Parts: sequence; C-alpha cells; structure tokens
Amino acid sequence: MFPSINPTTTQAWAKLTQHYAQTKDHHLRDAFAADPQRFEKFSVTFEDILLDYSKNRITQETTQLLVQLAEECGLQEAIEAMFTGEKINFTEDRAVLHVALRNLSGTPILEDGKDVMPEVNRVLAQVEKFSNAVVNGAWAGYTGKPIDTIVNIGIGGSDLGPVMVTEALKAYQKPNITTYFVSNVDGTHIAETLKKINPETTLFMIASKTFTTQETMTNAHSARTWFLEQAGDEEHIKKHFVALSTNAQAVAEFGIDTQNMFGFWDWVGGRYSLWSAIGLSIACTVGYENFRELLAGAHAMDNHFRKTPLEQNLPVILALLGIWYNNFYEAESHALLPYDQYMHRFAAYFQQGDMESNGKYIDRNGETVNYQTGPIIWGEPGTNGQHAFYQLIHQGTKLIPCDFLAPALSHNPIGDHHAKLMANFFAQTEALMNGKTEEQVTEEMQQQGCTQQDVQNLKAFKVFEGNRPTNSILFRQLTPRTLGSLIAMYEHKIFVQGVIWNVYSFDQWGVELGKQLAKKILPELTSTEEVTSHDSSTNGLINQFKAFRQE
Ligand code: F6P
Repeated sequence: MFPSINPTTTQAWAKLTQHYAQTKDHHLRDAFAADPQRFEKFSVTFEDILLDYSKNRITQETTQLLVQLAEECGLQEAIEAMFTGEKINFTEDRAVLHVALRNLSGTPILEDGKDVMPEVNRVLAQVEKFSNAVVNGAWAGYTGKPIDTIVNIGIGGSDLGPVMVTEALKAYQKPNITTYFVSNVDGTHIAETLKKINPETTLFMIASKTFTTQETMTNAHSARTWFLEQAGDEEHIKKHFVALSTNAQAVAEFGIDTQNMFGFWDWVGGRYSLWSAIGLSIACTVGYENFRELLAGAHAMDNHFRKTPLEQNLPVILALLGIWYNNFYEAESHALLPYDQYMHRFAAYFQQGDMESNGKYIDRNGETVNYQTGPIIWGEPGTNGQHAFYQLIHQGTKLIPCDFLAPALSHNPIGDHHAKLMANFFAQTEALMNGKTEEQVTEEMQQQGCTQQDVQNLKAFKVFEGNRPTNSILFRQLTPRTLGSLIAMYEHKIFVQGVIWNVYSFDQWGVELGKQLAKKILPELTSTEEVTSHDSSTNGLINQFKAFRQE
C-alpha cells in the first residue's frame, strides 16, 4: 500500500523540531574534535562507492529521528509498492517501474498482473542487435557507407539522460561513432548540427515517449526535410531514421517504419527513461556491453535500496539529510559538485530528475502542503565552480548543502592533474566544515607581517564561519557500472523524499500550462493583426516582437 501521511503530523517531526532547536548552534569543528570515530560512524560503502556524510550537522540522535520519520511515513511500504508495480503514479494511473528496465536478475515484475520482463528483454535484445550493427559498421546508409554519426532528437528525459551518460562515459566511446544531441526548438540547435554531418552516414534517432512534443517533432521534421533534400527518395528514410517511443501510430504517421521503432511503456517516466529504448544512443555510442554494465550497476543499487536497513541505505541517508536541511534548516537549494569533467552534465540531468519530480505543492491527499518540498538543484564540475560560485557557499548568507563526487582513478592520468583535482576536493570539504576562526586569521596576518591596524580593518572579511554541510561521494573509477549505481542512487533519493513530503513524484502537471499557452500564442505571431487577447505585458511584448520583424 502506498501511504499518504503528512510528515509534520508524525512524532518524529515534533522530535526533530525540538532536536533542531537544541543542536542548530553546534559546530562541526567541535563534533570532530570530540569524536575521533566520527568518520567511521557516519560513512557507508556500497561496492566501489564510499559515502562519507560525517561533515553534516547531525548527531546519532539526528539520524535515528530521521529514520523514525521515514518509518512513520511508511517508506518501507512505499518502496515495496514501487517495486511490485502498484500504480503509485496516481494522477496518471500508472505504475512506476524503471527498476524493471535494469532487472537483470530475470525475476518477474508484475504490472496489472502481467510480467513485464519478457517485453523488457525483447526490446533490450532489439537494442543489442541494432547497436552492434551500428558499431560494427553493418548498418549502412542509402549509399552503402556505414553509419558514423548519430543525431538524437529529443528533449527533457528523452535528451538529458543520454547526453549526461554519453558525456560521462566518453572514455568508453567507440572511435568510429560521433554522437550529437538536438533538443532546443531554437532552429540554431538543429541548423548548427546539420552543418557538421553527412546525410549518407547519419542516423537520426527521434526520441519521444509521446511522439507529440512540439520541440522534438519540429526538429524531427526539419531533419527529415534536410535529409530528403540530399537523399531524394523517401525510401531511404528507413535506413536513417529510427524512433524511440511508446506511440507506434504517431511514429508510423511520421513516416518511420515501425520495424525501426524501439518501444517502451507508459510505466517508464520520461526522466527515468535512459534505461529504456531511450538509451539507444548510449548503446550505439559506447557499445551495448557498456550499456548493459550501466544497467547492472543500477540494478545492484536497486537491490541495495530495497533490501538494506534504512540507516545503512545510501539513497535513504542522502534523502533524509536533504530533508533535515530543507525542512529544519530551511535550506532552499542543494548543489551537486562532481570533481570529474566527464560528469559535467550530472547536475543538469538531476535538475530535471529532482525538480520535475518533487517540485509540487499539492500533497497526495490533494491538499496544499504546509511545509517545504523539493529543493532547487544546481551545480557545475569542480574545480571550475570554485572560481565561480563557491564564494557564496563559503561566506554567503544562505546555507547550501553540497554533494561532492569524485573518482579515485582518472581515465586521463596526465602528470599530477588528478592529485591536484582531488586536493581541491578534500580542501573544499574541509574548509566548508572547519571554516577559519578570528584567532586563526589574526595569527596568520601577524605572521605575514601585517600591521595591527590592518589586522583590525580586515580580519572580519577573512573569517569563515564554516559549519557548511557536505556529503563526499568517493568512488574507485567512473565506470559504466559505477555510473549506473550513482544515477540509481539519486533516483531513489528523490523517491524517498517524495514519499516523505507526501507528493506524487512521477507526474509533471506543472509543465503543461506553458505548453498550452505557447500553442495558443503561435498563430498570433504570424497574424497581421494587433494582439489584444492577453494582459498588457504579454500583448506589448508580442506586438513589439512583430514590429521588430517588419522593420
Ligand atoms: O518536460 C515535460 C516532459 O513531459 C518530460 O517529463 C519529458 O521527459 C519531456 O517532456 C519529453 O517528453 P517526450 O519524451 O514525450 O517527448
């Protein structure tokens, strides 16, 4: 049974409120000084991944109370409800079974009483066969030349996952394949991509769960027109266009042979779809064997999440810490800071994953919540971020909990780059925790020969309060398996938070209003008449837009 409990009505919430008042002024520096075992107490490993959460403003009582909160909110029942195919996406009347897409164990997973695994495995075999043909050069274009370029056209979940993963796994990229992603309806995106590619050797993947999304269909039609201008014959489309979709009818209407359609199902959420046929661009870029390893890593994390006690469960720990800061410390955002250039789209990917899932103010009873839900997710890779926004994290007025992520081994061990990168990682988390006291600043300035007056004038600016919380997620190397585990870890973190915040994490009604209005405005942009149907600002903007274009 999927529970529906207002978290603020639990006993744990009341205790946490009290506990927060008692502990909020404690300094992490003192906690580490008082307990040499703090790292051992607040760190946990899973395969090649270490989560060190000791640099958080918590005590053992905090974690106990947070776990109690999860229990009172029915987390364990909710996990089982998801894994057993209950329709936990209530507002769309759908099950949520992305875990089935990476269920390499072969055990049945039921949706509406029917095992979904035979169909999942059928599409996976189709992905294997097709991606092998592309990578081996057996899939030839209309002039007989092998495919060497893939253009994935999709947006949101049909773009961000494949982009993030193909970037993260660039070290595994097949040398004969170049992959591009086109998502924005801004014509610049497709136009600039088309300039770089050869129609004879390009394969377009039209990735859209619904096959109706305005941006994707517009880009797909432009690509099709461009292709036909060069190739001439519609007959050639079947060698150069494939569809990744749940909508066979719309795929056929577009002119793609449904033989070249890779299907998935309505129980796969868009932002959880990289594991499905939407991952075809991943399999063709890094090879099926690596795509399968990605699935295996996610599957291992699924098992960990389902079976491990809450207090040792990585996704649960991350989720509960997030709730501690979001709801008790009133932190408004959460930063994802990978110290790995390959992971440069990781934060962008989880902006959709997290904010589209938990950015909701209506709870599962249909009531307006009286507490905060999903945080703002943001971040950039280290060390670039250090030279951009870390100032605010260190000395700003806002509390920003951060996740630092990094591999111990680099795929590019050039000179001492990796040691320098990691020295920065460790230095930042240490500095955010410890800060720098007035005494330390004074002593340092005196040692540098500053006058007493200078010390007086400047010391306040050089003091760091510290006590800024961080998680450190250190892993052996960024392999497909580890990446799969990390993605699944964050997916489940988001799920746990949605359960406790009592929101439906798998719908996205908030995206609809803008889409509807854009459809209404589109014909107004081409009409010659003055537009008066909106508020004065929107009318003014539309009319000025049209005026600029006539000048
Ligand atoms: O942004 C809204 C959304 O529905 C996402 O959830 C989804 O990932 C994206 O649009 C793309 O949808 P589709 O795959 O159907 O084109």
